[in-house]
Amino acid sequence: MIPKQTVDKIIDAAHVEDVVGEFVTLKKRGANLLGLCPFHGEKTPSFTVSPVKGIYKCFGCGKAGNSVNFIMEHLQLSYPEALKWLAKKYNIEVVEREITPEEREQQTERESMMIVMQYAQRYFSDTMHNSDEGKSIGLGYFVERGLRADIIEKFQLGYSLEERNAFSNAAIKNGYQPKYLVKTGMSILSNRYVEGNEIIAQDIFDRYAGRVMFPIHDDGGRVVAFGGRTLSSDKKTAKYINSPETEIYNKSKILYGLWLGKKSIQNKDTCFLVEGYMDVIAMHQAGIENVVASSGTSLTIEQIKSIHRFTRNIVVLYDGDEAGQKASNRAIPLLLEEGMNVRLLQFPNNDDPDSFSRKVSTEEFQTYIENNTSDFLYFKAKKLKDETKNDPIKRATVIKDIVENISLIPDNIIRSIYIKECANIMEMEETVLQTEVNKLRRKASGKQQKVSNDTPPDDFVPPEYAGEQGISQEQTIEEDIFKFEREERDLLKLILNYGGLIVVTHAEDEDSNKHEVEITLAEFVFMELERDDIKFENPIHQTVLDEYVHELSENRLPAVQHFLMHQNPVISTFAVNNAITNHTLSPHWEKRFSILVPDEIHEAKKNAEKILFSLKARILQSYKKEKDELLRTSSSEIIDELLVEIKKLNALIERVSKLLGRVVIR
Ligand code: CTP
Ligand code: MN
Repeated sequence: MIPKQTVDKIIDAAHVEDVVGEFVTLKKRGANLLGLCPFHGEKTPSFTVSPVKGIYKCFGCGKAGNSVNFIMEHLQLSYPEALKWLAKKYNIEVVEREITPEEREQQTERESMMIVMQYAQRYFSDTMHNSDEGKSIGLGYFVERGLRADIIEKFQLGYSLEERNAFSNAAIKNGYQPKYLVKTGMSILSNRYVEGNEIIAQDIFDRYAGRVMFPIHDDGGRVVAFGGRTLSSDKKTAKYINSPETEIYNKSKILYGLWLGKKSIQNKDTCFLVEGYMDVIAMHQAGIENVVASSGTSLTIEQIKSIHRFTRNIVVLYDGDEAGQKASNRAIPLLLEEGMNVRLLQFPNNDDPDSFSRKVSTEEFQTYIENNTSDFLYFKAKKLKDETKNDPIKRATVIKDIVENISLIPDNIIRSIYIKECANIMEMEETVLQTEVNKLRRKASGKQQKVSNDTPPDDFVPPEYAGEQGISQEQTIEEDIFKFEREERDLLKLILNYGGLIVVTHAEDEDSNKHEVEITLAEFVFMELERDDIKFENPIHQTVLDEYVHELSENRLPAVQHFLMHQNPVISTFAVNNAITNHTLSPHWEKRFSILVPDEIHEAKKNAEKILFSLKARILQSYKKEKDELLRTSSSEIIDELLVEIKKLNALIERVSKLLGRVVIR
C-alpha cells in the first residue's frame, strides 16, 4: 500500500497540464489549455485543461477528472498503478506501507487464488495442445467449429481431461494447496462416509472434467474464472459449467471479452453485446473486437456501468430464439436507464453471431452488421408493423412496451425526440404518448426521489440572476471550468429555444435619433455581446454561437433540430445536453409561436437581459479581481493609476447591477 504522504507528494507533483501534455498537444486558451480529446475522435478541440483547478474536461464526450484519473483512463490502470506510474515520472520514491496482518492474509489469499487460476489456464491449454486426448477431442472440437489457431491462442482456450481428478492431482503435485483449488472452485471435495456419519476420507475432483475450457479474465487480463463446455450431446449434462462466485470472481461485475475488447470499444465508441462465449470469439475472428458477453448470468447494472466507462453506445446482438428475445427484453430497460444509446441487430434465420459468421465471409459479416443495426425504437416499431397488423390487442401491448422503454431514458431531450419519432412511426398523437410517458415517470420517481446535482457557481452572482429558471434542473451540472460557463450556456439555451422570437429594442440612426426596431431575440443577444466585444470563453459555446450567427447570415433562422442533428458532434452534443424546453421539438417556428403564450415570450426577453447583464457584471467583477490582485503586489508608481481604474470598474459594476432585472427592451 502506498502511504498517504507519498500519495500527496505524487499528486502535488503531477500537474494536470504536464501529465495530459505528455499525451495530448495542448494550446493555450485564456487561463486554460485546449486540445483534441484523446478519449473520443474529434476534429474540433473540445478537451480543456484547467491548470488552476487541476482538472481536465472534454466538452465533447464529458470525460473529466484530475491528473491521476487521466492516467487511469488513458493507460487503463488501477488507482495504485496510476500513482506508481506518476511517481516514476516525477522520480518520487514509493516505499509501500507495511500492511496489517489481516490485509496481508486477505491479499495473499486472493493472490494465491489468482496464481492457481493462472496455473489452471496454462495447464488446460498445455493439455489441449500436447496430450493425445486433448489434441483429438479438445483441439479437434475448436478446429471443427472453425476457430483459427491465433484465436484459440488469443482466448487462451484449453481442455480438461476426462479423468475425474487429472487437474487436481497435477496441481497438488506441483505444490498448489488443495485449499486454494477448492476456494477457486476448480476442484470439489467429496466426503466418503462410514457408518455413523464419521468422515474417514475426502476425495478431490475436478469441476470441469471432460470439458473444453474458456478462461474468464478480469479487466487487468488475469484469469479469475472458467466456463467449461461439455462435448457430450446428452441433454442431461449441463452445457456449460461456470466457476462459482469466489473472492476473485464477482459474476455480476465481470464481462467476458472486456479485457480483450476495451481498447477497441473505446476507439470505436461502440460496444456489441452478445450472448455467449463463442459469439465473442467468433466476432474477434471476423475482425470485430469491441464485443462482450455477460457470461452465464443475465446482464447486470454493474456490468452495464463497466461498459459505460468506455462508451455509451451499445448494440445488442441476441439470438432470435425465444430465450434470446427474453434476454434482450430484460437487458434493454436496464441499458436505457443507465443512459445508454441502445441499438439492436438480429441475424437472419435465428442465427447467432457465431453460427452466422461461419456461413458468410468476414466482409459479408461486417457489412451485414453495418447495414442491419437499428435503433431499438425502429427495431421494435418494425416488429409492431410486421406482427400485429390485424391484432389491436397485441398492438396495444407492444406500444405499451415501447412507451415503457422510452420512459426510462434519463435525458429529457433524447426522451422527447423518441416520443416524437414513436408518434410518427405509430401514427399516434404525440401528446397521448407524452402523457403516458409522464405518467410512468411520475410513478417511477415516486419510488425513487431524484437528487438534484445543481450547484451554485463559486464566485459573484448578481442577486437577480441565479441560473436558468423554468428549465429542468434534472440534468447534472458538471464542474465549471470556465468562469462564465453558466451564463454562456444559458444564453445559448435561450437562443436555441427562443431565438426566433421578435422583440422590440431601441436603435440609433445616423443623426443619433433613437427609434424602436423589431429584431429577433437571437439578434438582440448577438448585438449585446458584440457591443462589449464579448467572446465566449468556452470554445464549445463559441462554436455553437458562431454556427447560429452563420445560419442567420445565410438568412436562415435555425431551429433547434439544426443543432441537435448537426454533423459536428461538438455542436450536437451541446444541443442534446442543453436544449431542454418542451417547445424545442417542433421544426416549424410558426407552429411553435402558436403554442407560446405571451407570458413565455415576455419571460424569454427578460431572461435574456438578466443573463446578459449578469455576464457583463461578472466579467467586470473578474477584471476588478485582477486589478485588486495587482494592487496588492505592485510597486507604488502604478498604484494611483490602478486605483483610478478600480474606481471606474466599481462604478460600472454598480451601474450594471442596477440595470439587472430592470426592463430595457419592451
Ligand atoms: N450458459 C451457461 N450455462 C448454460 C448455458 C449457457 O452459463 N447451461 C451461458 C454461457 O455463457 C453461454 C451463454 O450462456 O456462452 C449462451 O448460451 P448458448 O447460446 O446456449 O451457448 P453458446 O455460447 O452459443 O455455445 P455453443 O455455440 O457452443 O452452443
Ligand atoms: Mn452458439
